[in-house]
Amino acid sequence: FTGVIAIDGPSGSGKSSVSRAVAQRLGLRYLDTGAMYRAVTLGAMLAGIDVEDQAAVEQYAHRMELFVPTDPQRQILVLEGRDITDEIRTPAVSLTVSAIATNLAVRRELITRQQQIVAAGRAIVLEGRDTTTVVAPDADVRILITADEDSRIARRTAELHAEVSSTTMAQTSSQISDRDRRDSTVASFQSAAEGVVTLDTSHLNLEQAIDAVLDIVRE
Ligand code: CDP
Repeated sequence: FTGVIAIDGPSGSGKSSVSRAVAQRLGLRYLDTGAMYRAVTLGAMLAGIDVEDQAAVEQYAHRMELFVPTDPQRQILVLEGRDITDEIRTPAVSLTVSAIATNLAVRRELITRQQQIVAAGRAIVLEGRDTTTVVAPDADVRILITADEDSRIARRTAELHAEVSSTTMAQTSSQISDRDRRDSTVASFQSAAEGVVTLDTSHLNLEQAIDAVLDIVRE
């Protein structure tokens, strides 16, 4: 395979694990666009910028020096010389990221950087919420990974908590629905665009979901 595979989907759909594994199996590059929104969020927070101050965040996004990895086996993100790989996954960042993602100037900046990364090298799996519609509408393969709400909550709880109980499930559920509600104002997240293949992974384990994507790529 020598082109671009764009994969989007909501929180907990499994899109990240599936996308990264597909890139590994096919020997492709991999770009996690969500990690870039998280990096701007963390960077702005560390710089003491008010995330609601649209102009200040925009300026920050333009000047920030962010190294975005494309090796699926080595996902180390570096912001101004600092390894932020783990820090971008903290609850504080997850709670704040929508404020940054709804800033249209920030989106323009990150979309440009993402398109440059795609153009700069060989075949790639591009993952994130607007990759099939905005970042790479001309991708050779475009897939929307979905899963019913219960499966998404269960997967995200297992990622975030050592114990999957009714308490941790309820916590995760309210965090996901808060973020989905805030994200829902971004027009490009609304629904599957024409020509995008929808893959429902509610009843698939990781291995089965990877195989289903590989089948779509081979078609
Ligand atoms: O945690 P989850 O899989 O939902 O999301 P993520 O891929 O880590 O992205 C985190 C956040 O970044 C999303 O909730 C969106 O607000 C934003 N995002 C975006 O605006 N556009 C993208 N292409 C990817 C992520």
